[in-house]
Amino acid sequence: MKDVRITVISGDVTAIDTPALVVNLFKGVTQPEGATGAVDQVLDGAISRLIQEGEIKGTQGAVSMIHTLGKINPARVLVVGLGPADKFDAQVLRQVSADVVRYLRQRSIKKGVTIAHGAGVGGLDPRASGRAIAEGTLLGLYRFGSYLSKGEEERTEFEELTIVERDAGRTAAIEAGVAEGRVAAEGAMLARDMVNEPANAMTPTHMAEVARRVAETQGLSLTVLEASDMGEMGMGALLGVAQGSDQPPKLIVLRYEGDPGNISNNLGLVGKGITFDTGGISLKQPGGMEAMKGDMAGGASVIAAMQIISEVKPKINVTGIVAATENMPGGSAQRPGDVVRAMNGKTIEVINTDAEGRLVLADALCYARDQGLNRLVDIATLTGAMVTTLGKACTGIMGNNQELLDQVTAAGQETGEKYWQLPMFDEYKELIKSDVADMKNSGGRQAGSISAAFLLAEFVGDTPWVHLDIAGTSTAERTKGYQIKGATGVPARTLAQLACKLAEEGE
Ligand code: BES
Ligand code: MN
Ligand code: ZN
Repeated sequence: MKDVRITVISGDVTAIDTPALVVNLFKGVTQPEGATGAVDQVLDGAISRLIQEGEIKGTQGAVSMIHTLGKINPARVLVVGLGPADKFDAQVLRQVSADVVRYLRQRSIKKGVTIAHGAGVGGLDPRASGRAIAEGTLLGLYRFGSYLSKGEEERTEFEELTIVERDAGRTAAIEAGVAEGRVAAEGAMLARDMVNEPANAMTPTHMAEVARRVAETQGLSLTVLEASDMGEMGMGALLGVAQGSDQPPKLIVLRYEGDPGNISNNLGLVGKGITFDTGGISLKQPGGMEAMKGDMAGGASVIAAMQIISEVKPKINVTGIVAATENMPGGSAQRPGDVVRAMNGKTIEVINTDAEGRLVLADALCYARDQGLNRLVDIATLTGAMVTTLGKACTGIMGNNQELLDQVTAAGQETGEKYWQLPMFDEYKELIKSDVADMKNSGGRQAGSISAAFLLAEFVGDTPWVHLDIAGTSTAERTKGYQIKGATGVPARTLAQLACKLAEEGE
């Protein structure tokens, strides 16, 4: 995908020379005001007539195209529905912005001009409007197709969106929002690219290479621990998973120093990076197994968040840790019944080798604590049960510290990525009791996502910790709004937002 330009100018929308001018309408409005009203007037009431006839309803994301046939400078006017005014927010704007640019691209229209939706009656400030338009536009135009041998060169790419604002005093704020939105969207798209990449390309070694590229371009420090380092550190749980694969495992560590004078002002992001999950000896069913190339989405979101954070530069130290390995059933694979010892000395009975995510995270979390990180967020496509419980609308969130849980949830409200908390009642802890070791890695059929979180809890001690199970939300089944079928990039934008919020609160 080529870079889409997004520019901001001030001026009169009806006078602009463009193949397509985008205005908007809230649901139920019959007499458009503002920019839409102004365009309606110069088109002799064409828009209000179409509203009366019921062709334009203001339904969220619905686009109506009017050819202006020389009447005004813009060759076409697109009226996009914003949905009900009382439900309008930045998230609606992200979705609508994506719908509009994909509508244009589908018709081979490469350029467009849009008003800053929501910055007037919608109640968004100009910066938030610019940010949401940029995020929606870029995320909505995302395409992954690098293995198509034909057709790619014939595809039209959308090239340039210009946001026009009548009040010249507001363009700078919109521009700042656009810049923020671009950084966030590019991060999320890096995560999408990594997750969409097939597992024969996105190996642990390749993940480490992506992290190296990010580190080099952003000036982050990078440490990659090899299997031998892990052995010396006693990471028996991670190595137990890795031993079934011929691909060498990597523990990838990226460091951003935004508050070097205050090292305890920090945040650790810990991602599951299973580059392919066959289940190991507890082999998965073949149907749908190809989706398990995405079992490194947590790790991808950590690398992506580190990229965003290093662009935004919040005053906080952030360490991103990715436990990257395959889960394969090779000749030296671990067996059900094996007992492994994690870095903190705790032992785990491996009941099911397909419950590998919690094993690699156990050691990654120990390592994070060892690094002096005193707030931890782990991100993992951890359990199929999560997809059953919450589907794909929101990420399940669990943890041991309500303040941090609330901070993550609040960050998600700003990015449009939703979180829903699951309980961690003591009763559930019994599910992972083992007869032979300190715990077992599978709690059976009951409360599968919660019992997984309880295993992770054994490795964070009293450090404030939040666990995000993105098994459902890391991929989308179909293209809708700014989500494109395939990887979503969730929760990279939220993690970066969290770092920024924690930095502000720490001041
Ligand atoms: N990577 C899977 C979880 C998963 C399933 C993610 C579907 C995305 C979509 C994880 O490693 C796994 O296999 N979990 C097992 C745990 C069980 C054996 C206790 C599961 O959920 O079935
Ligand atoms: Mn598994
Ligand atoms: Zn897995």
